[in-house]
Amino acid sequence: MMNSDKTYKNLIGGQWVESLGRKTFENINPADSNDRIGTFQQSNAEDIAAAVAAARAAFPGWKRTPSPKRAEILYRAGRLLAERKEALACDMTREMGKPLEETRGDVQEAIDMTLYMAGEGRRLFGQTTTSELPSKFCMSVRSPIGVCGLITPWNFPMAIPAWKMMPALICGNTVVIKPAEDTPLSAFNLVKILAEAGLPPGVANCLSGFGPEAGGPLASHPDVPVISFTGSTETGREVAHAGADHSKHLCLEMGGKNVIIVLEDANLDLAIDGAVWGGFGTTGQRCTASSRVVVHQDIYREFLQRFVERTRALKVGNGINPGIQVGPLINEAQLRKVEQYVEIGTKEGAKALCGAKRLTGGEYDHGWFYAPTIFSGCTPGMRICQEEIFGPVVTLIPCSNLENAIEIGNGVAYGLSSSIYTRNINNAFKAMQEMETGIFYVNAPTIGAETHLPFGGTKSTGNGHREAATTALDFYSEWKSIYIDYSDRLQRAQIDT
Ligand code: UN1
Repeated sequence: MMNSDKTYKNLIGGQWVESLGRKTFENINPADSNDRIGTFQQSNAEDIAAAVAAARAAFPGWKRTPSPKRAEILYRAGRLLAERKEALACDMTREMGKPLEETRGDVQEAIDMTLYMAGEGRRLFGQTTTSELPSKFCMSVRSPIGVCGLITPWNFPMAIPAWKMMPALICGNTVVIKPAEDTPLSAFNLVKILAEAGLPPGVANCLSGFGPEAGGPLASHPDVPVISFTGSTETGREVAHAGADHSKHLCLEMGGKNVIIVLEDANLDLAIDGAVWGGFGTTGQRCTASSRVVVHQDIYREFLQRFVERTRALKVGNGINPGIQVGPLINEAQLRKVEQYVEIGTKEGAKALCGAKRLTGGEYDHGWFYAPTIFSGCTPGMRICQEEIFGPVVTLIPCSNLENAIEIGNGVAYGLSSSIYTRNINNAFKAMQEMETGIFYVNAPTIGAETHLPFGGTKSTGNGHREAATTALDFYSEWKSIYIDYSDRLQRAQIDT
């Protein structure tokens, strides 16, 4: 326990300031309620308005800064992140709970995105093309849009803020970020490093606070033309409604109910490794978590037995301690949600083969620990096989063949990630083609997306956009098509043929 009385302020226009409402909240370690990380500002609509005004004021200068110069700042930030990776990971484990190994990975993902987008500073390619008229030149260029409002979740406290901030900034936008109230420190650490790297005041503003008081006013602010949100489907829909009146550009990354398909010819050791990591890594609190495993009936018994054995052996505890594989849930509400779903599953007739209980005694009494849980006897339509639980609960569903597995896999409202374990290349390609998800893996679990490939999902998971990769640039910039006529006469497109 290392209590901290530190008070963190909002970053607005390059100044660290208190909330105008003078309200604060505590950031508490989910693995140890005695460990207070610090006091954060409980921002309100007035604070948001001040941050948006600062971001607006900074926009013309940043927009006119050549993008290779913007990139230099991002490169410096990337280096600082790398130098301080260990301390940043420790801060993150304290506020979010996932084991150090995973928080190092989270910081690494932020580094990757920062350096990747810095590289884009010398690209930001458009097109040059021909014209249907003589002596006419055509090209398209990207332009920044304005102030981007970024609302980020607690499960990837630095990676996801970086996914959103870095492409927004390299394109020449300014940002206001409101990180989740459970994990504000990691986002603050990130903007602090950006400031240290030389980002001009007002280009990135960061406010802590809660959804209704701070996130809502940001989503509906008329001077914020771009909103990027990652979080629950319900909140995502509210954000979409808030943005509709102002025709905002919206990128929504919402829920998932991802599936691993294990065929009868799979390497079972590999498939079990994948199911354990995909299902219980990050305590199942990833939108990409492998929350369903569809297994061919011929190997179902064996898979189940070995999967349960491995899951029972997982070490659950405070992620700061060596050897811990599964941390706590983020907060009490999330723990209750998991408890409720386990109850629902049991009532639906599924059988919990392991876990299915809150962990108590010793250090467990001070945190939100839940034993990794596997349900068998599931049918695809059960609520535990349809709804996102966002916790350490995996449902096992038998299948009769590949077609049946694909049908089960696609039979949910979400479409983020899916995977298949097989040694048969035809089956792998068939599944690749038929799965309706935005991300697909062969012989790997549903988690582990890399920053230079498009990230996002179909159906209720998203609204058609993708984060990361060059696809993020399309969201954070607006195309401008330019026609240059050097014929010295009026040429009329579609008329003068
Ligand atoms: C999320 O779960 O919200 O692919 C993001 C992955 C990580 C990102 C997950 N790179 O699992």
